[in-house]
Amino acid sequence: MLNDSLSKTLNEQLNFELYSAHVYLAIAAYCSGESLDGFANFFMVQAEEEKFHAMKLYKYLNDRGKRVTMEGMDTPNNEYTSILEAFEHAYEHEQEVTRRIYHLSDIAMNDREHATIQFLKWFIDEQVEEEAMFDSIINKLKRIDKDSNAFFMMDSEFALRTFTPPAL
Ligand SMILES: [Fe+2]
Repeated sequence: MLNDSLSKTLNEQLNFELYSAHVYLAIAAYCSGESLDGFANFFMVQAEEEKFHAMKLYKYLNDRGKRVTMEGMDTPNNEYTSILEAFEHAYEHEQEVTRRIYHLSDIAMNDREHATIQFLKWFIDEQVEEEAMFDSIINKLKRIDKDSNAFFMMDSEFALRTFTPPAL
C-alpha cells in the first residue's frame, strides 16, 4: 500500500512534469518567434516527452489505487536573449527535476516501498540522459559561438527530431 505522503509527492511530480512541458513549449515559442523552426521543433518534442513522463506517473498512481489530482502551474519564462540562454535554462530545469526524483526515491527507500523504488529507476536513468543531452548541446553552442553556418546547420538537424512514445 502506497502511503499518502509518498503518493502526494508522486502526484506533485506528475504536475511538475506537465509544468516542464509548459516550460519547453514557452522556449519553443521563443524559438519560433526567432524563425528558428528546428530549435522550436526540438523543444516541442521535448514537451511531448515531458507529457509522456507525466502520463507514466498518472498510470502508476492509478495502478496503485491512488487518485490523481491536477494542480495549477506557474507562468514559465517566455523571454530569452539567446538560444544558448534558453538551453542553459532548460539544463537548470532538468537538474531541478533530478533533485525532485532523488527526493522521491529517498522517501520511497525510507518507506521500503520497493515497487516505487523500482518504478523511479526509469526516471533516474532518464534524468542522466536528459542532463547529458542538454550539457552536450550547450557545449556545442558555445563552440559554434558566432559561426552562423554551424548554427543554422544545428537548426536543420533539430528539425528532424521526433518523438515516438514507448509503451507506458
Ligand atoms: Fe521529465
